[in-house]
Amino acid sequence: MDKIIAPSILSADFSILGKEISDAEKSGAGWIHIDVMDGQFVPNITYGSIIVETCRKLTKLPLDVHLMIEKPEKHIEEFAKSGADYISVHAETCPHLHRVVQQIKEQKVKAGVALNPSTDPDVLKWVIEELDFVLVMSVNPGFGGQKFIKNSIEKIKIIKKMIDDKNLKTKIQVDGGVNSSTIKDISLAGADIFVAGSAIFGKDDYKKEIDELKLLAG
Ligand code: DX5
Ligand code: ZN
Repeated sequence: MDKIIAPSILSADFSILGKEISDAEKSGAGWIHIDVMDGQFVPNITYGSIIVETCRKLTKLPLDVHLMIEKPEKHIEEFAKSGADYISVHAETCPHLHRVVQQIKEQKVKAGVALNPSTDPDVLKWVIEELDFVLVMSVNPGFGGQKFIKNSIEKIKIIKKMIDDKNLKTKIQVDGGVNSSTIKDISLAGADIFVAGSAIFGKDDYKKEIDELKLLAG
C-alpha cells in the first residue's frame, strides 16, 4: 500500500472549508481526517457529525473520523450515517473495546483504535485481529500544532511487530506533530497513514507540502 497523507481539517480555515478540502484533494491528500472532541475526554471542543455530513458533500476522499469523546459507543451509528469511512475510538474511553470495534464494523465502516502517548500498546493484544488500523497518538490529543513525542517511534515499532508476528493486514496511522522533520523516522518505524494538520493547512502551497511529506515517507 502506498503511504497515505491524511490532512486534518482541525487546522483548516472553516470560513472556506469547501475550498480547503478541495485544495487538499487536488494536492494529493489520501484521506480527510476529522477530529471530533468533546471537552471531556480532551480539553477542547470541536465539531460533530454535521461536519462529517458537510465534508461528505465536499469530497469523494475517504473520511477518517477520530473520536476523542467519552462513551463513543453512543455515537458510532450517527457518525457512520453521516458518511464516515473510517472511525477510530480511543482505547482509554472504552472498557468494552472489543464490542465497540464490532459496533463500528457492523456499520460497514473500517475500525481503528487510538492510543494516547502514555497508553501501553499491550491493550491491543486481544483486539488487534479485529482492527483495520491502529492510531498512534504522537501528541496528547486535544490540539493541533504540538511537538512530536519522540518515544512514539518505539511504540510504532512494537505495534508493527505485533501486526507482523500475527500476519495481519492492520495498518498503522500516526497523528500529532507529523511534518517534514519527523515523517521519515515515523515511516521507517512502520507507519502507513500520516495525519498532518498544521504541516499542511495554513501553508501557502498544499501540493508542495504534501509532495514533500510523501517523498520523505517513501
Ligand atoms: C490532535 C488531533 C490531530 C491534530 C494534529 O488531538 O488528533 O489530528 O489535528 O495536528 P498537527 O498535525 O498540527 O499536530
Ligand atoms: Zn486526530
